[in-house]
Amino acid sequence: MRRRAADYRRPVRRMLWCWIWSVLGLFCLVVIQHNHNGNQIIRPSSEEWTANFEEENYGVFNLTDEIASATSFSRQLAEQMTLVKAYITIAKDHNNLHLAWELSSKFRMSQLLLSKAALRGEPLTLEEAGPVIKSMSSLIYKARDLHYDISTTIATMQSHIQAVEERANAAAAQSVVFGQLTAESLPKSIHCTVLKLSSDWLQNPTLSNAADELRNSPRLVDNSLYHFCIFSDNLLGISAVVNSTVSNADRPKQLVFHIVTDGVNFGSMQAWFLSNDFKGATIEVQNIEELSWFNATTYFEASGDMKASSFLNHLRFYIPDVYPQLEKVVLLDDDIVVQKELTSLFSIELHGNVNGAVETCFEAFHRFYRYLNFSNPIISSKFDPQACGWAFGMNVFDLIAWRKANVTARYHYWMKQNEDRTLWKLGTLPLGLLAFYGLTEPLDRRWHVQGLGFDPNIDSRLIESAAIIHFNGKLKPWIKLSIERYKPLWERYINMTHRHLQECASS
Ligand SMILES: *[C@@H]1O[C@H](CO)[C@@H](O)[C@H](O)[C@H]1NC(C)=O
Ligand SMILES: *[C@@H]1O[C@H](CO)[C@@H](O)[C@H](O)[C@H]1NC(C)=O
Ligand SMILES: *[C@@H]1O[C@H](CO)[C@@H](O)[C@H](O)[C@H]1NC(C)=O
Ligand SMILES: *[C@@H]1O[C@H](CO)[C@@H](O)[C@H](O)[C@H]1NC(C)=O
Ligand SMILES: *[C@@H]1O[C@H](CO)[C@@H](O)[C@H](O)[C@H]1NC(C)=O
Ligand SMILES: *[C@@H]1O[C@H](CO)[C@@H](O)[C@H](O)[C@H]1NC(C)=O
Repeated sequence: MRRRAADYRRPVRRMLWCWIWSVLGLFCLVVIQHNHNGNQIIRPSSEEWTANFEEENYGVFNLTDEIASATSFSRQLAEQMTLVKAYITIAKDHNNLHLAWELSSKFRMSQLLLSKAALRGEPLTLEEAGPVIKSMSSLIYKARDLHYDISTTIATMQSHIQAVEERANAAAAQSVVFGQLTAESLPKSIHCTVLKLSSDWLQNPTLSNAADELRNSPRLVDNSLYHFCIFSDNLLGISAVVNSTVSNADRPKQLVFHIVTDGVNFGSMQAWFLSNDFKGATIEVQNIEELSWFNATTYFEASGDMKASSFLNHLRFYIPDVYPQLEKVVLLDDDIVVQKELTSLFSIELHGNVNGAVETCFEAFHRFYRYLNFSNPIISSKFDPQACGWAFGMNVFDLIAWRKANVTARYHYWMKQNEDRTLWKLGTLPLGLLAFYGLTEPLDRRWHVQGLGFDPNIDSRLIESAAIIHFNGKLKPWIKLSIERYKPLWERYINMTHRHLQECASS
């Protein structure tokens, strides 16, 4: 079900819904960042599923409040954009191409402003937004004047917009803290499924026998196979990752997945992967609580961060210890979807480097100075502020080189340096940038296309050409507010006819 590249000559009305949602998605994101900055409350969210720059944006938000805010420039801009988009449709319908062109160009300017603000995590200022808002106003006025059948068209538009806003408000009301939306708006049916699976696991000895058998499988340590690691507590997320990987593999039986999850989700995860067919791939599920060496002495001491969920996130810095016999692995996040055969990743020349990753500085953002406090001499004396950032989500790790360079020790060192949180705030990416500094090999961008969790305007051709698409950002594909345009890319790898999913959906 591939979507075609956005084509401006298509009847735009059909695209309108997409657009409204897209604008709204972007708008929500901006609003969140805005509010976050206003509150200055920084604390870890319950989830750290994303490993990109959005990690920095922890905070408590009252979305209901913010949507009603009269003073936010982002909101004004977003509202105007909705109108402008509507007028583009109308202008094109009336063959007024010049006006449509003018409107489109203003629309793109606003988009740029909004995404800039979203990326840097600061609200728009009057100086930035003022001129654009003003010029859009006058264009909207012009458009209103030119088009006579406005009363009907606009009435239709406004009822659409209203419906969208009502849906957004309803969603916001369900979860006042947007940061938790990802977790809380997991459909109820998914929680129900997890419960049913856990009880399967407890009641069904054949499942645990199968798991025991797997634990001793030589395939788990066979370096002629292709090994993938996923550390997460999100059943559907992991399932989509594994399923999309095997569905696009030429020889799925040669793939081995190493999942580590937490104690709460361990049983359901086991039951799911043992009772579904993943084309003969080997899938190991481990409980992080049973990794006895990964305990208070190693992690807590270094970090002071007692959040259980960040345990799983920090496990990525211990991969050679988790899998002492393996030589090369690919680390996948739980919010990605694989669209191509991946085994050639394992033969990419890393030139002695430890980490193969896609760089993120092709736009001006995402250089080191964005993540780290360069007013601190510990940072500024060792690192180049213009060094290019890269992304977690899909990383090729050469574990032999890792052990040799002692990357885990580097990680411990930087954890220690940042005890007072003045080098960076939170999140694993800044740590990764430091620990893998000088040890990262840039990969072709098409291996890993990012932003599907916050950017509604990614080029369709780029998405289609991507080996992996990454829903980094707040708008995960499994939440209600996710970006409609991308949702099917994820959903097609979830088997909704599974007995439990069906029962849970109908109960
Ligand atoms: C969020 O804002 C709305 C509207 O101002 C208010 O009714 C609600 O109580 C607020 N929620 C919290 C948790 O502050
Ligand atoms: C943590 O690991 C160390 C070394 O492996 C061990 O000596 C210690 O007893 C462990 N602590 C706990 C709380 O399990
Ligand atoms: C790695 O670092 C640890 C200390 O964190 C040290 O004990 C060990 O010798 C180092 N290994 C190598 C190969 O440098
Ligand atoms: C950045 O580092 C400097 C020097 O150590 C420190 O004074 C400052 O508070 C740090 N900034 C933040 C935001 O932590
Ligand atoms: C895996 O994805 C395929 C589509 O490629 C789908 O038919 C199948 O049901 C999925 N399996 C699971 C377990 O979700
Ligand atoms: C979906 O899961 C059910 C088991 O619950 C299985 O019978 C069915 O074949 C699966 N569908 C696909 C397309 O894999």
